Amino acid sequence: MKYSATSSVVARTPHHQRFTALASVLLIAGLLTSFAPDAQAQANPALLKDKAAFVNDLMKQMTLDEKIGQLRLVSIGPEMPAKKLADEIAAGRVGGTFNSVTRKDNRPLQDGAMRSRLKIPIFFAYDVIHGHRTTFPIGLGLASAWDLDAVATAMRTSANEAAADGLDMTFAPMVDISRDPRWGRTSEGFGEDPYLVSRIAEVSVRALQGEQKPIAADRVMASVKHFALYGAVEGGRDYNVVNMDPMRMYNDYLPPYRAAVDAGAGAVMVALNSINGTPATSNTWLLQDLLRKDWGFKGLTVSDHGAITELVNHGVAHDETEAAQLAIKAGTDMSMADQVYLGQLPGLLKSGKVAQQDLDNAVREILDAKYDMGLFHDPYLRIGRADGDPAEVNAESRLHRAAARQVAAQSMVLLENRNATLPLKKAGSIALVGPLADSHIDMLGSWSGAGVDKQTITLKQGLQDAVGDKAKLVYARGANITDDKHIVDYLNFMNWDAPEVVQDKRSPQAMIAEAVRAARKADVVVAAVGESRGMSHESSSRTQLTLPDSQVALLKALKATGKPLVLVLMNGRPLDLNWARENASAILETWYTGTEGGHAIADILFGDVNPSGKLPITFPRSVGQIPSYYNHARLGRPFTEGKPGNYTSQYYEEPNGPLYPFGYGLSYTGFSLSGVTLSQSTMKADGKVEASVTVKNTGQRDGATVVQLYIRDVAASVVRPVKELKDFRKVMLKAGEQQEVRFVIDAKALKFYNARLEHVAEPGEFQVQVGLDSKDVKAASFTLE
Ligand code: BGC
Repeated sequence: MKYSATSSVVARTPHHQRFTALASVLLIAGLLTSFAPDAQAQANPALLKDKAAFVNDLMKQMTLDEKIGQLRLVSIGPEMPAKKLADEIAAGRVGGTFNSVTRKDNRPLQDGAMRSRLKIPIFFAYDVIHGHRTTFPIGLGLASAWDLDAVATAMRTSANEAAADGLDMTFAPMVDISRDPRWGRTSEGFGEDPYLVSRIAEVSVRALQGEQKPIAADRVMASVKHFALYGAVEGGRDYNVVNMDPMRMYNDYLPPYRAAVDAGAGAVMVALNSINGTPATSNTWLLQDLLRKDWGFKGLTVSDHGAITELVNHGVAHDETEAAQLAIKAGTDMSMADQVYLGQLPGLLKSGKVAQQDLDNAVREILDAKYDMGLFHDPYLRIGRADGDPAEVNAESRLHRAAARQVAAQSMVLLENRNATLPLKKAGSIALVGPLADSHIDMLGSWSGAGVDKQTITLKQGLQDAVGDKAKLVYARGANITDDKHIVDYLNFMNWDAPEVVQDKRSPQAMIAEAVRAARKADVVVAAVGESRGMSHESSSRTQLTLPDSQVALLKALKATGKPLVLVLMNGRPLDLNWARENASAILETWYTGTEGGHAIADILFGDVNPSGKLPITFPRSVGQIPSYYNHARLGRPFTEGKPGNYTSQYYEEPNGPLYPFGYGLSYTGFSLSGVTLSQSTMKADGKVEASVTVKNTGQRDGATVVQLYIRDVAASVVRPVKELKDFRKVMLKAGEQQEVRFVIDAKALKFYNARLEHVAEPGEFQVQVGLDSKDVKAASFTLE
């Protein structure tokens, strides 16, 4: 049930009056008794202006059971139907819920809280990851835009929509660095680079939460996840262990979480994995020393789904009692979807194994968070009044299609374009084939929350809308996602409300034959191939990155027709595109584009929008190359291109280096880059150097590209990466136009965590590299004094 978009709450309060700030103060004070016949306990409304005083006062009135109740984050579902949940809430045994996502459903639950002795409001959380009612591109797509305004639009819109449905918190942004595309959740994150992901993390937090304190009625609290290092699970297998040396942790994997915390994220979700032998959920170093002491985080920590109970499976707790003890002492405030705190803490407190202080710390952080969400000022801040409820939660009028289309068009990466196959003409005849050409559900991508499949524009619809009657569009499915029954069963088993991978019953041969007939009659073939969305999801790790055989067979048959073959890829991880690269006329990586995907892809295919996305993650040539991230460490014997067999670090069965490098992406126009000019050749510790380049649009069309700044520390106290992204600028240029781009480099850009984990910039030579991808760069050097 974790993935269900809506819940089925049956109990309703007839007509709920929205609580104004004053009314809620009165309510908390026990003066309004409509929901609180027994209202002798009360927080002092006069203290509401002062968070600490208010929360302290409230805590003084709480019983032990009420405190423990606050630690419980419950999902509505079959074992916890709405009526039961409302009763639990009224009994003071719930701090917050998730997966209940409409005002109408949430109101009776908050009413339950208002019937509880102290009337402490509950909060409503949900996985609003890349959109709410409107679905934006998945994380990898948003990151491909290399445009922080586009990310902000997606996140702000998501927050507005979520808040309008009575939600107070989202379990986002998901900022796990992933260097291993076998991991299914690669799709959810923003790629492999600490700098790019950190910038996206901070922009996301600000856009979700807004600037106001307490958070405004049209925004939601961000819960950055999964803290920490979840993207580094061994072998890319979900939930596996993470073992990592501290320098790699600090330099490469922790920065995005830190950026989100520094941007003010109100909450942190604790990861499911262990880190160097200690599960994150019971990791005192992680949750106390690093997060709270070093980073100064003052917010709420939430466990991941069932993670406290899983401490027994990890083998660090003997039983649930010990699991609860370890988790709360480490600093995991709320337990998601298990009863462990509720069941175990009373005994643990009695026996003294958990101190009152441990409990109070957690409770204080939860109440502080509720205060920051504005819920003590108005428990119905986002739920509103019943007469303001939308008649239809999925009404068209509630969607933000224009924003979704615009962001989606920026999120695609053009990987190949032979003989200027693209853009296509809106004329002649186009054959559209492939299992993803008309699949509504797959447009949404993983973790699409409340997004509704039928409201998405598929590629078929998008192309049809674009060409009208100017061109003929012939559609043939051509293949199933896969013919492997085992895989289909696995994908359909995964908690979905209904089977998502629906097989066409025709034989593979019959489907291919139909597609080939369509291709023969057409001027060009557009093939929408890739992964069903469930293939790149939680618990969807793969051992291969290839397209399923059914789709490869289709593509080979289409290639044999000799017609130009345009691949529109829909997938949630880098794929092995060796065949496609050699054989396709053009390849457009669209990831999963969301509600307006079909229109946005058509915008790109027909050139109404010039593609400008760049890869936020390296595409390896094969699984064997993984990990294949661009910012790898320097070596004593690095591979030398063009010199095989020379005792350097390489694989001998296939070419070395990535298939497509980080930062890569084509446009319908061309760009050239001048050499790099530095403002000076030396830099003082508190000084700066300016690097400038001139970028020119050398083609016939207006277009945007991303100028990327990388730095290499030439000789340091420890082995450092070959290069690291430190800044970037997306530049829009008219045909023939040129522009100077300046980057300011200061000591911050040169700093790293050394062997003693000191954050230092070491004097010496630094090489500045500027490029339109991470591989093809212009360089110049300066010295830090
Ligand atoms: C996932 C989290 C998610 C949670 C609640 C877990 O399985 O790991 O990312 O926020 O479920 O839906």
